[in-house]
Amino acid sequence: MNKGVLRPLALALITACAVTSAQAGEVEVLHWWTSGGEAKAAVALKGTLQAKGHSWKDFAVAGGGGDSAMTVLKSRVVSGNAPAAAQIKGPSLQEWAQEGVLANMDDLARAEKWDESLPKVVSDIMKYQGHYIAAPVNVHRVNWLWVNPEALKKAGAKAPTTWDEFFVAADALKKAGIVPLAHGGQNWQDFTSFEAVALGLGGVDFYRKALVQLDPATLKSPAMEKVLSTFRRLKDYTDRNAPGRDWNLATAMVIKGEAGMQIMGDWAKGEFVAAGKTAGKDFLCLPAPGTAKAFTFNIDSFAFFKLKNEANQKAQRDLASAIMSPDFQELFNLNKGSIPVRMNMKMDKFDDCARASSKDFADSAKASTLVPSIAHGMAVPSAAEGAIKDVVSQFWNSDKMSTAQAMDRLLAAAKQR
Ligand code: BGC
Repeated sequence: MNKGVLRPLALALITACAVTSAQAGEVEVLHWWTSGGEAKAAVALKGTLQAKGHSWKDFAVAGGGGDSAMTVLKSRVVSGNAPAAAQIKGPSLQEWAQEGVLANMDDLARAEKWDESLPKVVSDIMKYQGHYIAAPVNVHRVNWLWVNPEALKKAGAKAPTTWDEFFVAADALKKAGIVPLAHGGQNWQDFTSFEAVALGLGGVDFYRKALVQLDPATLKSPAMEKVLSTFRRLKDYTDRNAPGRDWNLATAMVIKGEAGMQIMGDWAKGEFVAAGKTAGKDFLCLPAPGTAKAFTFNIDSFAFFKLKNEANQKAQRDLASAIMSPDFQELFNLNKGSIPVRMNMKMDKFDDCARASSKDFADSAKASTLVPSIAHGMAVPSAAEGAIKDVVSQFWNSDKMSTAQAMDRLLAAAKQR
């Protein structure tokens, strides 16, 4: 976000936009959950709010990864018409809070003991200068490889655990006439694969130094060179129609057996589940090659905008309270493919992928191998993130850019902090 751009207009116009008080409130909620599994999860959120007697005004902006949603949100806030809640994540929460447009939710958080219910790594992200301005709904793991076991069987291939094994399996799938890697066409999809390769080949320290701290020496190192060239090799295993494809259509290729594998966060599991598929039988969830001991996290959260109308403020607080309730966290995450972000939740209704994710989240937090996803806005300020993603996608899409040029451009992009 362009710092400072919103402040004068937003403050004046939000005030002007206040509506008169009514009994039950209305909550307008911006999100980008429009695919099969995502939409089911959004319905769970809507139902939870409606059960409290308020009305839900849906503000869905299609587009995986949320880039389009963020563009629309900025123009709505600038024109003084902010929604009550918006799906905003990671460091962007701080950027929006700096604009002075977010509401302080401390009273509710204190009454409901949010500090005690959330891992500290999560509650820190939900606060601006120590005050709650957002509530989290889940923890998505991003470093997954989704596999169609039937396709592997047809190809006589083994599920890969390292990048070397990945290329062996991919060659076998190609020979059998199956698209080895389902992929789509937005820069966040490219970066989801790129950060998996970076973590799998370079390890946790490299990942943190290069992609979280944006350390110049690590961004231009032999290790980064290897990550870039391995990442580019993946392209030979995708199909011609990948450019422009949405992530859920790529997942559908794996569901149907047209493709063997996909590198994607566990919102992909929402698609398998919505298609009636069973984890461990119809599809496999494996850590992305070489990343079994690490966990790349992506936490969805809702930021709350300042509102004038009292009934709507009450509805907004009820939404925040609902989001943090154990029942909602269970229902929502069963559909979304993620795991509850509240601690000490029972996992008995969840499948093996979610249970593995829950255990690995706790283990990696202890082992210090829990890392934020750059592709999903968890690690670096939005300007640097956008610039880095663009470089990686340009590298992916142009055979002419050398790894040395890509590293120079990454260095330049990292300076946009
Ligand atoms: C969000 C997920 C969403 C995915 C695809 C991610 O950035 O965190 O909730 O399902 O994008 O749209």
